[in-house]
Amino acid sequence: MAEPRYRTIIEPHRVKVVEPIHMTTRAAREELLAAAGYNLFGLRADQVMIDLLTDSGTSAMSAEQWAGIMRGDESYAGSSSYFRLEAAVKDIFGYRHVLPTHQGRAAERILFGCAVGPGQVVPSNNHFDTTRANIETQGAEALDLVIAEGRQPALDYPFKGNIDLARLDALLAARGPRGVPMVMLTLTNNSGGGQPASLDNIRGVAASCRRAGVPFYIDACRFAENAFFIKQREAGQAGRPTIEIAREMLRLADGCTMSAKKDGLANTGGFIGTNDDALAARMRNLSILTEGFPTYGGLAGRDLEAIAQGLYEVLDESYLTYRMRSTAYLGDGLRAAGVPIVEPPGGHAIYIDAGALLPHIPSSSYPGQALACEIYLAGGIRSCEIGSVMLGRRDPAGGAEIPAAMELVRLALPRRVYTQSHVDYVVEVIADIAARKQSLRGMTIVEQPPALRHFTARFAPVG
Ligand code: F0G
Repeated sequence: MAEPRYRTIIEPHRVKVVEPIHMTTRAAREELLAAAGYNLFGLRADQVMIDLLTDSGTSAMSAEQWAGIMRGDESYAGSSSYFRLEAAVKDIFGYRHVLPTHQGRAAERILFGCAVGPGQVVPSNNHFDTTRANIETQGAEALDLVIAEGRQPALDYPFKGNIDLARLDALLAARGPRGVPMVMLTLTNNSGGGQPASLDNIRGVAASCRRAGVPFYIDACRFAENAFFIKQREAGQAGRPTIEIAREMLRLADGCTMSAKKDGLANTGGFIGTNDDALAARMRNLSILTEGFPTYGGLAGRDLEAIAQGLYEVLDESYLTYRMRSTAYLGDGLRAAGVPIVEPPGGHAIYIDAGALLPHIPSSSYPGQALACEIYLAGGIRSCEIGSVMLGRRDPAGGAEIPAAMELVRLALPRRVYTQSHVDYVVEVIADIAARKQSLRGMTIVEQPPALRHFTARFAPVG
C-alpha cells in the first residue's frame, strides 16, 4: 500500500505492453459519427480514443495471467486448467460445484433454465438486463426490490445497492418457495449505478431466504468491488482483509452466476457456482448441449487459467485502492465542474445525469444520446447512453413513447487500462461541454429495430 501521507494513488502496476491509440480530430469525428448514424455502437474501436463503453471484457491482463495462458491445458475433458479454476472458486466463493460458461449471460441462461419456471418471480436489488431477459424467457417475473435510497441519483448513501428486506420478506411470505424459486442479489448493482450492498444486508437476505426455504444466489460480476466497499464503509469491517469479507459475503449464498469479464480480470468467461447437488447435475446436462463439456464450458483451457489467476489479483488491496480511487477521481472532477452524477461514485463507472445537466432537451429528444455524441465529437471518448434510447418503451396504444426513469450516460472504466492522465483528459473534455451546454441540441431517431434498439438505431441531430 502507498504511504498514507501522500494523496496521489499511483497505478499499482508498470506498463509492459502498449496498445497505440489512434488520434483523431473533431472534424474527422464529425464525419465518422454521421456515417455511424450518431450511434456510438456503430463506430469502429479504432475510431475511438478513450473507450468507456464498458468495463466488461476490457481489462488488461497481468504478466502472471499471460503466463497462465501459456500453461493452459486444452484437453477436452479433465483439463488441469479447470481444476485450477475450480480450486480458486472453491477457495474464494466456497461453492461445491463449479461450472464454467462462455460468459455471464450463459451462466444465467443455464441456472434459470434449470431452476425457474412460468409464473414464478425472482426478486433482486436491481437485475441487470441480461439477467432480467433470461428470467423473462422462462416465463417468470424479474422484480427489482432495491431500497428507496437506491432510486435517488443525487442522494449520497453508502449502500444504495441494498435490497428492501421488508418488501422481500412480504414477497416470500405471500408467494413461498413455490412462487419464488430463488432470490438474487447483484453485487455491485450495475443497473442502479454500480452501488454496493452491505454485509449486514446480505446477511439479512440469507436469513430471510433460510426462514422461507428459498435458495439465495449472487450475481457476483463485481464481487471484489462490493467487498472493498464493505471494508471502506461498513462499521467494524475496516480491519479485515478484503478476501475474508468476500469469502463471508459469497458463502452467505447458495450459489452464484459470474461474468469473469468484470472482476475475473479476464477478457472472456464466466461460471456458475452452487451447493445444490441435484441442480448441478441438471445444469451440467444443459451445459453440455450448448456450452461444452463441464470442465471447459465453452472456454479454452487458457481462458480458465486467466480467470483462476484474475480472481486473486482482483482482491489485491493495492489494486482495489487504485480502482476505487480512479473511479471516485473521475466523479470528483466532474462534480467540481458542475456536472451532476449519480452519487456516490460506483465501483466500475460514473453515471452522468444528462437529464439534470441538459434540462432544455426533453426526454423525447434523448438528452443522454445528445450528450454521449457530443462527448465523442469533442474528445473521441465513447460512453454509453442509459436512458430513454436504451430503456424507453413504445406505447402499446401507439401514443408517445414512455421515457425511462432517468437519462444517464455511463462512463465505465476498463480495469488497469487507462492512467490518471487519461482520466484528467476525460474530465477536461466533459467540463468544457458542461460550460457550453446550452448549445447542445437533442436527437431524433430516424431508423430503429423492433427490440434492443440502442445497439443499431440511427439518429439525426434535431434542428
Ligand atoms: N450481470 C451484471 C451485473 C452485468 O453487469 C453483466 C454484464 C452481466 C450480468 C452479463 O455478463 O456480459 O458476461 O454476459 N454487463 C456488461 C456491462 C455487458 O457493460 O455492464 P456477460
